[in-house]
Amino acid sequence: MRWTAAVIVLFALGIMGARAQDKKTESTSFKSDVFPVLKKYCLPCHSEDNFNPSELSLDSRELLMQGGKNGVPVVAGNANESTLIKKLGNAPPFGDRMPLNKKQVISEGKAKYLSEAQVKIIAKWINEGAKDN
Ligand code: HEC
Repeated sequence: MRWTAAVIVLFALGIMGARAQDKKTESTSFKSDVFPVLKKYCLPCHSEDNFNPSELSLDSRELLMQGGKNGVPVVAGNANESTLIKKLGNAPPFGDRMPLNKKQVISEGKAKYLSEAQVKIIAKWINEGAKDN
């Protein structure tokens, strides 16, 4: 029966199409891409439980979006306008470059900042709408 073969082919094409669509919409995840970086490099100082003069907690997306002393550091959809990204560059709009690193005081060369790839992940997440994902 020819029509069964046609149905099978159409079904297979449908699955392939859905897969291609999945790839296209694949986005940066706060939980699995962004948070591990924040946890390692930022939480030592930006945790709700720690003394934190900036008043910015990065324990969750919810707390991040509540902001700190200088307001909410994320402009959803615009990483270039987001304080969170600006504070990771070498010309922060106020205060020090993050992550604040005591070694920086000893020797600029030893300061451990985020890699370009790590900053890009955070910027991509913001540009994709800073979603709760
Ligand atoms: C060693 C402690 C320390 C670490 C680690 C650290 N910070 Fe900070 N952060 C501070 C302090 C202190 C301030 C307040 C002074 C300033 O703005 O420089 C601050 C301020 C900020 C602010 C501004 C908040 C506001 O509203 O004023 C942002 C945004 C920020 N940090 C992001 C980060 C990110 C992202 C990381 C990790 C990549 C990080 N920080 C790691 C200590 C730290």
